[in-house]
Amino acid sequence: MTDDLLARIQVGGEVPHHVAIIMDGNGRWARSRFMPRPMGHRAGVKALRETVEGAKDAGVKVLTIFAFSQENWSRPQSEVGALMALLQEFVAKEIGDLKKNGVEVSVLGEVERLGPRARKAVDRLIQETAGGDQLNLNICVSYGSRAEIVRAARALASDVKDGMSLDEITEEEFSSRLYTSKWPDPDLLIRTSGEFRISNFLLWQLAYTEIYVTDVLWPDFDREELFRAIEDFQGRDRRFGKVPV
Ligand code: FPP
Repeated sequence: MTDDLLARIQVGGEVPHHVAIIMDGNGRWARSRFMPRPMGHRAGVKALRETVEGAKDAGVKVLTIFAFSQENWSRPQSEVGALMALLQEFVAKEIGDLKKNGVEVSVLGEVERLGPRARKAVDRLIQETAGGDQLNLNICVSYGSRAEIVRAARALASDVKDGMSLDEITEEEFSSRLYTSKWPDPDLLIRTSGEFRISNFLLWQLAYTEIYVTDVLWPDFDREELFRAIEDFQGRDRRFGKVPV
């Protein structure tokens, strides 16, 4: 079934080059099983592993995932601690397979806010996966899109102070100061758990992105769900504000 779906999307049209995902619903998944919330996040790591492998197999080149928002720092200390511990465990357990699969990892966000152990794990992940040429995996941690935009505006203001002319401020110059400067904008945004919100994720970059919302909770997301989203994307008519020719 999953292989049929993969075969279908491989001949069904353009596979999205860049897929972004808001991995939502871990807490609800855990609650429905009378488990503590961190168990939902733990189950979410398994879904992430399957999704990364599925993305690579489908021919997606860039995968950007929202793992921890700036707003998530305000969750109970116990949950923040569990998420940080999970990040470190993720690095320890997955780094071998990520390297083997040619996945190059970048971490986008205010990583300065991470504690020393999480920071060290993140640095190791970036260094050891550098050069992977199959898939770029961007993990957004301590990320907020408005903060990213303000950071880019500050960088531009500083360049203007150093002599850049106002006419030189273009969309391209602005984009080049965002965390995502190395990659084209996402073609497809997937949000799980049935919520129709952007939640301060990639506000600038999603201007012309196709949005796919599924009721599936993140821990239940898998390869097959990813392929379904890609198949749906292949049926979209992307006009980028123009009329069909
Ligand atoms: C949203 O679900 C999910 C998160 C805040 C965390 C996402 C993290 C993972 C999937 C863990 C793996 C990531 C790495 C890189 C280790 P929620 O808690 O808001 O769920 P709810 O809306 O049902 O409460």
